[in-house]
Amino acid sequence: MNKPFVLITGASNGIGLELAFTFARNGHSMVLVARNEAKLQELQTTLTSKYGVEVYTLALDLGKPEAAETLFAFTQQNQLHIEWLVNNAGFGDFGLFHELDWNKQEQMIAVNITTLTHLCRVYSAQMVQHKSGRILNVASTAAFQPGPTMAVYYATKAYVLHFSEAIQNELAPFGISVTALCPGPTESGFQAVASIEETKLVKGKKLPTSKEVAEYGYKAMMKGKAVAIHGMQNYLMANSVRLTPRSIVVKLVRWIQGV
Ligand SMILES: NC(=O)c1ccc[n+]([C@@H]2O[C@H](COP(=O)([O-])OP(=O)(O)OC[C@H]3O[C@@H](n4cnc5c(N)ncnc54)[C@H](OP(=O)(O)O)[C@@H]3O)[C@@H](O)[C@H]2O)c1
Repeated sequence: MNKPFVLITGASNGIGLELAFTFARNGHSMVLVARNEAKLQELQTTLTSKYGVEVYTLALDLGKPEAAETLFAFTQQNQLHIEWLVNNAGFGDFGLFHELDWNKQEQMIAVNITTLTHLCRVYSAQMVQHKSGRILNVASTAAFQPGPTMAVYYATKAYVLHFSEAIQNELAPFGISVTALCPGPTESGFQAVASIEETKLVKGKKLPTSKEVAEYGYKAMMKGKAVAIHGMQNYLMANSVRLTPRSIVVKLVRWIQGV
């Protein structure tokens, strides 16, 4: 079999960039994907010279309907055997749903849900043939409850969590693991893109670094953990939701997300 590679989406910044460093430190060669070509090339140079790993890059908008096919064709043409798939690319948006820009919500669903699902489809089929492989899908603690003022984002992450748990069950007999990584608010470019810098959720708070989350996610993936919630407080919050009436949960989230 060809040399194993990890494929990481959203590798140009934040958690994805730190995942690339974490995999490189552990000696893995990789394929890095995001839209920002310059950042990917800079990362390629750094990782290759610092860790001696092989790095391929592909600048691609994962919000485009043909994105997963383009990426799959790229790894096939280069004869890259994807042993680890990391679906990390994603973004959110803040505001009242009826006022938010529709194109941004549609792109969010395309990146956070459609392309993630399509990539799982094409690469899991290959993994089944090889009877080995691991998938890491980056969900969020947002996955555990509805999120007024970030309604579409929270719903996309609920999808990622449920979808990942379901295919973890289907793929386990073939020797493949699927991990849903659920970080809470984390220091990265996410807050600026989602316009949530002024909300109670993050303002003035000391957030975990992307590096901490990436290292935790890497270990959880390699252990084949199905659901990995980063941080004790996040773990308790995510689980307390199950015992709290839904009407109260939704009001609490609205309050926490407040400005
Ligand atoms: N930070 C948090 O508080 C937090 C909490 C829970 C979950 N998460 C999740 O963690 C993941 C990583 O986010 P982050 O916090 O690291 O945010 P970030 O710093 O904004 O990084 C997002 C990454 O996704 C890529 N991306 C976004 N849209 C894309 C598109 N259309 N096509 C290709 N790549 C795209 C970006 O690259 P380009 O701009 O170069 O395309 C970037 O590399 C996301 O799935 C997010 O939902 C974040």
